[in-house]
Amino acid sequence: MSVHSRIVIIDFGSQYTQVIARRIRECQVYSQIVPYHTSAKAIAKLNPSGIILSGGPSSVYGKKAPHPDTAIFKLGVPVLGICYGVQLMAHFLGGKVEHSERREYGPGQLHVKDESCALFAGLGKSIDIWNSHGDKVTKMPKGFRAVGTSDNAPYAAIEEPKKRFYGLQFHPEVVHTPRGREIIENFVHDICGCGSDWTMGSFIEETCRAIREQVGEDHVILGLSGGVDSSVAAALLHKAIGDQLTCVFVNNGLLRENEAETVQRVFRDHFHIKLKYVDATARFLGKLRKVTDPERKRKIIGNEFIRVFDDAVVSLSRGKKSKFKWLAQGTLYPDVIESVAIGGNPAALIKSHHNVGGLPKKMKLKLVEPLRELFKDEVREVGAQLGLPKEIVQRQPFPGPGLAVRILGDITRERLRVLREADTIVVSEMKAADWYYKVWQSFAVLLPVRSVGVMGDERTYEDTCAVRIVESQDGMTADWVRVPYDLLARISSRIINEVKGINRVCYDISSKPPATIEWE
Ligand code: XMP
Repeated sequence: MSVHSRIVIIDFGSQYTQVIARRIRECQVYSQIVPYHTSAKAIAKLNPSGIILSGGPSSVYGKKAPHPDTAIFKLGVPVLGICYGVQLMAHFLGGKVEHSERREYGPGQLHVKDESCALFAGLGKSIDIWNSHGDKVTKMPKGFRAVGTSDNAPYAAIEEPKKRFYGLQFHPEVVHTPRGREIIENFVHDICGCGSDWTMGSFIEETCRAIREQVGEDHVILGLSGGVDSSVAAALLHKAIGDQLTCVFVNNGLLRENEAETVQRVFRDHFHIKLKYVDATARFLGKLRKVTDPERKRKIIGNEFIRVFDDAVVSLSRGKKSKFKWLAQGTLYPDVIESVAIGGNPAALIKSHHNVGGLPKKMKLKLVEPLRELFKDEVREVGAQLGLPKEIVQRQPFPGPGLAVRILGDITRERLRVLREADTIVVSEMKAADWYYKVWQSFAVLLPVRSVGVMGDERTYEDTCAVRIVESQDGMTADWVRVPYDLLARISSRIINEVKGINRVCYDISSKPPATIEWE
C-alpha cells in the first residue's frame, strides 16, 4: 500500500485508538496502528506523513508506563499527541507533567488563543471538547507555545510550529468533540500534506491485483457464512480470481428463515460464484440432541463445522489430493490490531467465539485475508461497491452457532420452526417500521418457559418468546432500544396470533453489561 500517504498511530492503550484510526480514514487517508514499543526505525520504514501518539490509561511516571522510542521525534515528520500522547511529548522533550487533583472528565470548552494555529484553522475561538485525563502538562517543552486553554488546563493545546509538533489534552476523535473531525482533517491534510487517496474504489483495484499476485494460478477455498465479512471477502476474491475461488456454504440447520436460499441466490445465481452448498442439518441436530448447556452447544457446533467443511473439501477434490492451496478468510483490521495492542483489544472478544475461522491445521492451507486492513464500515462500503445487496451488506450480526444459542434448552426441529417464525415477524416488523437498519441487532429468543393463556374459549399452555432489540457500537457494550410501544405491540400480537406454540411475548430490557446480547 505504499502508494498511499499514511498516518501512523502509536498505541498506548487508549480505548479510543481505533476511533482515531477510523476518523483518519474518514478523511480518506490511510492510517495504521502500531504498538507503543515499535522502533522509530520500523516506523520510518512505513514512510509516514505524520505520527499520532494515542491516549492511554497510564501516567508517564508510572513504573510500567508505555514509552515510545524517542527517536520518533527526530524523524522530521509532524507529530500529534493526544491526551497521554501530549504528556509523553512534554515528558520527553523537556516539559513537565503533573498529577492533577481535579480529574477532568466529560464535556468542556477549548478557548483557542491563536487562531493562526494550523490545527484549528477555520474553527473559531471556542470549541466544544471532551476530556478524560488525570495528569496534565504544567510546563511546556522549549520551543512550544500554548494555543488553547481549557478551564482546568492552561496547556490544553500546544504547538511547536517549526518542528510541526502538536499536543491536545482533550480527545478530538470522539463524537463528543463535535468539530474534532475538522481538527483531525487539518492535521492530516494541511499539516502532514496527505492527499485524499484512501478510497474503497482504489482499495478494490489494488487488492484484486494483490490477490492475483499472491495466489497466482492456485485454487482458493472460502467458508461462506452469509455474514458481511465472508460475503464481501467472497465477492472481492471472485472479482480478483473468478473461478479459482470455490465457496462452501454449510447449512447447519440453525439458520434463520430463507437464509440458505438468500445466500445461494446471491452468490450462485447472481454472482456466478462456484458454490458448494452442504445441507448438514441432520448432522448438527443429531449431535445437539438433548444438549442444553450453552458452552457445549457452541463446542459441538464449532467442531462439527470443521468436520463438515473438511468433508466438503475432500468431496470437491473427488478423492484426489486437495487442489486447494489457499483458505480465504474475512479477517478485519480490529482482529489484526488486537494481537498487538496493550492488554488486548476488547473488541476482539466478539470474534474469540467466532467459528467459521477455526479450520483444521492438517489441511495445511495458506491464508488469504483480503480485508485485513479494513474496518467494518469500510467492508460494508466495499461490499456495496461490488454490488452485494443491502440485505447482505447491512446485515445485523448473527452468531456462528445461530439459533442454537437463541433456543434455551433443547433444540428440536419443532422448536426451531417456532423460533424461526417468531424471528421472521420481528425482522419484518422492524423493517416495516424503518427500525431494522438503525439498531445493532433485533431478534427473538425462545425460552423454556411455559405459561397459561386463553385463546378464544380455550385455555393454552405454551412457550414464551423474548424479543431482544439492542443498539451498540461494537457488540462489547449494548443498550436495549426504546422502540415505540406501537411497534412492540404489533410484534407481540403478530407472534401470539401467528406462531403456533407461543402465547406470551416479553421485551428484554437488560443492558450489556451485565447481561449479554445473546441469551446463551
Ligand atoms: P454477546 O452475547 O457476547 O454477543 O453479548 C456480542 C456479539 O457477538 C455476537 N456473538 C457471536 N458471534 N459467534 C459469532 O460469530 C458466536 O459464537 C457469537 N456469540 C455472540 C452476538 O450476536 C453479538 O453481536
